[in-house]
Amino acid sequence: MSYENVLLEQPEAGIYLLTVNRPKALNALNSRTLDEIGAAAAEAGADPEARVLLVTGAGDKAFVAGADISEMRAYTALEGKTFSQRGMRAFRALETLPIPTIAVVNGFCLGGGLELAMSCDWILASDSARFGQPEVSLGVTPGFGGTQRLARLVGRAVAMELITTGRQVKVEEAKAMGLVNHVFSADTLMAEALKQARTIAAKGSIAVRLAKEAIQCGQDLDLDNACVLESKAFGLCFSTADLKEGMLAFLEKRAAEFTGR
Ligand code: CAA
Repeated sequence: MSYENVLLEQPEAGIYLLTVNRPKALNALNSRTLDEIGAAAAEAGADPEARVLLVTGAGDKAFVAGADISEMRAYTALEGKTFSQRGMRAFRALETLPIPTIAVVNGFCLGGGLELAMSCDWILASDSARFGQPEVSLGVTPGFGGTQRLARLVGRAVAMELITTGRQVKVEEAKAMGLVNHVFSADTLMAEALKQARTIAAKGSIAVRLAKEAIQCGQDLDLDNACVLESKAFGLCFSTADLKEGMLAFLEKRAAEFTGR
């Protein structure tokens, strides 16, 4: 499938890279870009050989500087709601992919950009990255899930402060609040992201997918039901060739050769 505002590449076997590609507008998210993010994520997710998806922004200035203000500004209330739902749909498609997804944040990560990053499983960032939900400065609320995902990730009080003040935070603060997993220099960020992707791609892929599913589906359940979910995932692994290979390789003191079966 070909896209206008995103690039979907496979830099290495099993590793997909989705790049939001409107650098002149700091990769701002218009309707077309939102649809393409959803479609590209689904395309990567439909590949049974896919192991991990990296999401980044084109250029060296921004990951994504938010929803496209020039498109939004003239919306009616109903069009605003439809635009919000469009973003929700795209980001939920990304969030519920069966493979791990990593946001590779290389600059401004604001508004819809932070909402995109938070729809990935975790965030790696460059030392120049800046994060924020500045929507109230424009007289609008976050619209692609920011009020919900930020509060779940960093807690209600921090989310409340960031969203109601619109304050932008540097990467050290974003890491301290648990929003960012690791920080790298801008010139090593993508290489480090690929290194992490390679590590995941070398594991038993069915176990990786089942582990993601258990974390994602379990987080909104009570602990008893969530643990039942984990036991089922654990049990299912015993039907795979990868488990047999992984455990035999350990006992034979050699590297496992997983096949994804
Ligand atoms: N929408 C549309 N265009 C944008 C944009 C956005 N969110 N962010 C940047 N651009 C455009 C600028 O208009 C500019 O275009 P021109 O060259 O044609 O003038 C170009 O990108 C470069 O931007 P700047 O000249 O502003 O660059 P800067 O370095 O001076 O500032 C910035 C960078 C601080 C990120 C600034 O661009 C900025 O504040 N952007 C808007 C951030 C924002 O408010 N995001 C939230 C949007 S609302 C939202 O996301 C709602 C939601 O939750 C769904």
